[in-house]
Parts: sequence; C-alpha cells; structure tokens
Amino acid sequence: MHKNKSNSDLDFKLNEVSISLKQSIKNLDSHTHVRGESLYVDDVNIRQGTFHGVVFDSPKAHGIIKHIDYSKARALEGVERIFTYKDVPGKNQIGGIIPDEPLFAENEVHFWGMPIALIVAESEFIARQARALIDINIEDLPVITTAKQAKAKGSFINAPRSFSLGDFKKVFNDCKYVFEGETFSNGQEHLYIESQGAYAEPLENGTIKITSSTQGPTSVQSITARVLGVAMHKIEVDVTRLGGGFGGKEDQATPWAVMAALACYHLNQSVKLILNRHDDLRMTGKRHPYESTYKIGLSKDLKIMAYEAEFLQNSGAAADLSPAIAERTLFHSTNSYFVPNVTTKVISCKTNLPPNTAFRGFGGPQGMFVIESAIAKAASEIGVSARAIQEVNLLDENDTFSYGQIAKKVEAKNTWDSAKSIFDIETLEKDIEDFNKNNNSFKKGLTLMPITFGISFTNTPMNHARALVHIYLDGSVGISTAAVEMGQGVNTKMMQIAADVFSIPIDKIKIETTNTTRVANTSPSAASSTADLNGKATLMACNSLVERLKIVASEILKVSKDTIELKNESVYVKGEKSELTWTALISVAMLKRVALTENAHYATPEIHFDKTKEKGHPFAYHVYGTAIITTTVDCTRGTYEFDSVKIVHDYGKSMSEGIDLGQVEGALAQGIGWMTMEEIAYNDEGRLLSNALSTYKIPDIFSVPKDVEVIPVETDGNDMAILKSKAVGEPPLMYGIGAYFALQNAIKAFNPKYDLKFHAPMTPEKVLMGLYSK
Ligand code: MOS
Repeated sequence: MHKNKSNSDLDFKLNEVSISLKQSIKNLDSHTHVRGESLYVDDVNIRQGTFHGVVFDSPKAHGIIKHIDYSKARALEGVERIFTYKDVPGKNQIGGIIPDEPLFAENEVHFWGMPIALIVAESEFIARQARALIDINIEDLPVITTAKQAKAKGSFINAPRSFSLGDFKKVFNDCKYVFEGETFSNGQEHLYIESQGAYAEPLENGTIKITSSTQGPTSVQSITARVLGVAMHKIEVDVTRLGGGFGGKEDQATPWAVMAALACYHLNQSVKLILNRHDDLRMTGKRHPYESTYKIGLSKDLKIMAYEAEFLQNSGAAADLSPAIAERTLFHSTNSYFVPNVTTKVISCKTNLPPNTAFRGFGGPQGMFVIESAIAKAASEIGVSARAIQEVNLLDENDTFSYGQIAKKVEAKNTWDSAKSIFDIETLEKDIEDFNKNNNSFKKGLTLMPITFGISFTNTPMNHARALVHIYLDGSVGISTAAVEMGQGVNTKMMQIAADVFSIPIDKIKIETTNTTRVANTSPSAASSTADLNGKATLMACNSLVERLKIVASEILKVSKDTIELKNESVYVKGEKSELTWTALISVAMLKRVALTENAHYATPEIHFDKTKEKGHPFAYHVYGTAIITTTVDCTRGTYEFDSVKIVHDYGKSMSEGIDLGQVEGALAQGIGWMTMEEIAYNDEGRLLSNALSTYKIPDIFSVPKDVEVIPVETDGNDMAILKSKAVGEPPLMYGIGAYFALQNAIKAFNPKYDLKFHAPMTPEKVLMGLYSK
C-alpha cells in the first residue's frame, strides 16, 4: 500500500522522458484549459456567410401534428430556410440499435422537446426569434411518463432480457430469511459544460466536413450518410475535444450534427448549430430512471442464497442505447457479491420522455442500487448491520457471475479488508457511535460500498480500435486514434504510450484530432474502454515502428539488431549509448526509404457472449474497490454533508496517477450527486420541470465530501489493460451509491422508527421526512 501523491507532487515535466513521467504526469490539456485556449466546436473559425441553426421542437409530449404554420417565421428578415422531414433526401431515421427514431417528427410527436424543424438564419438570434413565430396545433394523445405506466399499457422498446444462474425458486424455500421490496432510482442530467453542437461545412464534390462534439464520430458519419442518402466517404467527422460527455454524447450528439449537415447539403454553405442550455436540457435524454422489485433470500449465517430482481427501465420515446444499457444492468445486478441462485429480468419501457441514454456506468449503477437496497432491507429486518451481510457475500476467486463468466484476479475482499484496516473502521464506527450518543440535533451515518465493474463493451463486436502513427522526418510524431478526449485525459495516456515506446520526450508527440478520415469504422469513446482499446492499438503501431527502426540502426552501427535499444532519444547498443540519436536515425531511415508510418488494429482477445443463452465471457477484466462513506445530517433541517469518503481502489498499475485520481474523485462526486441531490422532474404532461440550473442541483465544490482519500490496492495489474493500468472512467461512480445508505443510517440513528425507503435521490426533503416519519 502506498498513499497517492498529493497534487503538488504531480510536477509537469514536459521535457522529461517517459519512464519517470509515467506515474507523475498531469493531464496535458490542463494548460490550455486554464488559459481558455482549448478548442471546442464553438471555437471553430467559421466561414464567411455561415448560417446558424435553431431547432424547433415539440411543445407536447405526445400527440398528432394537425397543423404547423411556418409563414411568419419564414418571412422574418434574415431567415434563410426552415428544414423539416420533407427535406430529408435519404432516410428520416437516426436510430442506432433499433430504427425507431426519426430525425424530425413527421405526423406524430413522442416527447416534449422532440425536433420538428431546423430554422436556419443569418444569426442564432434571428433563428430564435423566428422559432417563436411558428404556430403549431397538436391533438393530444395519452402521455406516459413512468416505466410502471408503460408496463401496465404494454408499451415496450423490445423484448425483455433475463439472466439466470442456479435454481432460485427452489432455493427460496430453504432460506431462513426472505425479503421483498421496491426501489426507484431517478434519472440524471449529464450537464456536460459544453452543450451539444456541430459545425458542418461543404467541401468539394458533395463532401461535407462536420466538426462535432461527439463521443462517436463514426455514428455521426454513418447516420449523416443515411439521412442524406450519400455514401460514408462523402462525410468527414472531426472532433478536437469535448467539454464533457459522460455518455450524453455517445448517441445524442448525432441529431444536431446531422441537422447541420442536412442544411449544409441543401444550402451549400456552412451551418453551425449549438444548443443553448435550455434547449439541451429539454431535448436530450438522461440517465434512465428505474423502478425495480427485488426478492432476496439469506441463510441463517447471512449468505445470500437467492436473488431475484425485475428492472423496469424508463427508456423514453425511442430505443437509443436503452437495450445495451438494460443489458449492463443485468451484468451488474449482483455487484461485488457471489450469489449462487440469481434470476434477473430487465424490461425497457417506452414512455413519452426524451429517449434516455448512456450515462457513466451505463445501467450498472441502477442495478447495483437495487441489490444494495435489498441488503439494507434484509439487514434492518434481521437486526444486523448491512456490513455484516455484505462482508460474507463478497466475490471470491473462481466464483461464477450470473452471466457465466468466472471471476479471476478478484480484488473484492482485498479492497474491502484493506479499506477496513487502512482507514481503521473500528475507530471510525466508535467515533460515530459516540457522536450520535452525545448529539440530538446532528446524527452521523457510515456505510461501506464495494464495487465490481466489468470492462469491455458488452457487445463484443465493438471491442476493437486502430491507431495511425506517423514519425515525421524531423523525428516528431503524430498519432491518430478513435479516442475522443472529453476531459478524461485519454490523449495524455496515448502520448505516454508513444513516449514510453519510442523513449522520446512528450513534446515531440502530438495527438491529432479524432477524425473519421484518418481512423475509420470506430467504436465510440465509451464503456471505460477507450484508453485500453486505442492505447493497445497505439502500442502495437509504435512497437512495429521500433522494430523497423532497430533494423536501420543495426545497419548503420553494424551490430546485431538484438543488441539495440531506443532510449532517451538515442540508440543504445548492449546498454551503451551510441553516437546515433533518434533524430539522426529517422533521417537515415528516410534516406533508406523505410516506412515511418504504421497503422495497427487491436481487438480484445478472449471475450465472447452468446445472447441466445445469455452466457459467456463478455469482460476483459473487472475493476474492484471499496469506499467508506460518512455523513452528518442536520436533524432540524434535513440537510447533510459528507464528512469523508475513504476508498481503496483497484487501478491495476496506474499509468497516470494524477489523471486516474481525478477520474475517481469526479466519478464519486457525480455518483453522490445522482444518489442525493440531482432531482429530475417531469410533470404528468411530460414537460421537464428541472429545466435550468436554478431547478436542477448538481454537486458543487461546497457539496463534495470534505475529505476524500483514495488508496490504490497493490496488485500485479492486468495484461488486458493498457500497460496494466485498468479502466477508470465509470467504476468509481458507483462508490456514490454508498452515500444513500450512509444517509439512511444517520436517519435511523435519529429516528429508530424510520421505515427504510429506497427512492433515490435522497434529497434533504426526503431526509427531513424520514427523520420525523412514524
Ligand atoms: Mo459511456 S456511459 O459507456 O458513453
């Protein structure tokens, strides 16, 4: 065990060679971020004559469009044209997994905020004015806003999915304890700082270049081609970076890019379309709300013998990524526990909300909240601590997950035991007990939250990536991959890999924009897998170049290739530095007409999954960890603070401790926000009420835990991870689930009659009601 370096130790040493830089590097974007120099879509230099788009969207959640009058809007000075489904030359269809989502509504609207038309004008201001002049008449149809209502009406996206292991029905009869209950977890707004947007410009011969704020450049390219009815090679998509994605730009960056391209196609002029915050909040989907039921059976020694859960996913009005997200709920429904008899079922329910979509954790958190609720319920009924149940059920080496994968290199118990000992759980608990004995107006609560998260796209065919590496004739390097930089520091990781293999300083390396012309047919930057997939491809490309360069060096130095090493910008022979520098070697390689470009393809080995049997080995590996969360509740007001979150996390062997720590801290804050304060509200008509930052609260610097400590668990890492450094984007979000149960424990300390409810988020209002409930 060793403590994380504090931030001041994370020196930025631009000219130092990679090995020493490996652990201590900062996100290389930090400098341009704080200076305001980082480029986003809105910073693209626009061409003279560029038009600006504003989307006209449905003011009703469900209905038949009887009449739309665009005449006043069209007549407004500066309005160029208004585009509707009638202007789509190809297919008016942007659905990814299931073709059930029109780009523009035709006769019927399915959610409040559904795009109906794109107004294109000389300025965004004029386009907005024009929008207010459109008259629309919609005949109301019944509105469904919850998953339960949808289930009752038989409104579904697709067929349900179900995983099962063992024989849960038989086993329930033999259980000493059986409990059943219901849970609800609300949605969550991504609130990326940079709202959705795109800029489309016409190039020659009918080609359109789109600069998009997307996690999935290839989806934007292929769906634009589908809508325009052109081949994919006519569409180029370029991404510099995103001001946050969190899953919200995996699929839902697409419509805006397609609309800009559509207008560009017709006008042969550049078109810029950036949603303002209100439009973005209203028109885009969020994390899926889930209404779930569970049944849990335990033996007398608290072993979970059987677990059954049904998850009702509020998918919204179209499939979007819902089926894939539903699947991941099943994969993570038993969290860090081994349960020998499991049956889980997920139903994607079609409602009249904006299509809900990917959000950090991708359905996993929703599944994990349910089993943690079941454990809390069982603990409360039996009269033991939840910890006692959690502890005896933690995953072990060679345990089987409900989807058939055998757990290997399991760190569940290791992180749990380490967290308990490093952070001295006995003292923490004793302090809380003492505090609660001596205080009536404030109560503290503590909880342990273990996590287990599978790494890979659960859809096996998506687990591949390519890297294109150029060494320029002066020895500098350019790298293109499919990785989209969205604040997670993936560009820095790619640079580290190249610096490591070539043994050159990182200022000789540039990570190029993510561009479909340079790297094609890519999977989105998602599933926490971006650094692994693109990093492995980068590693392979760089290694091939090094092998080639070693041959050149062996010819120049007249020594055997095997004795050669590239180190510190020089060629070393048998460990001795030669006269031959990196730069000189590249010059000679050029003269010898050796290729200084390499393209490598990586596809995750070993993984497979059979959806007909719902069994397989879908994950390259799992990430583990345990958090201890403590909270103090103000029992007069219901408000609360999180005193500390102490985590033992499985980074594998972190290749960038500063970046990875940032991911853990950010994910934790986002997870706590989801569980405690972020409250999405739609009214019965399907109108978003939490439609601004005045009505939707996210964690700010004052509400993050006062003391966050993250200790890496010491392991050998995992070779399936890039440089043994495990994926870190999503897993730590689920530590935040513990916040809910820590609050419950504080409420119980004040009000022993409190009847546990599992209805997230646990807002101060709910805490207050819990404190005084009878
Ligand atoms: Mo991520 S939630 O897999 O875009």
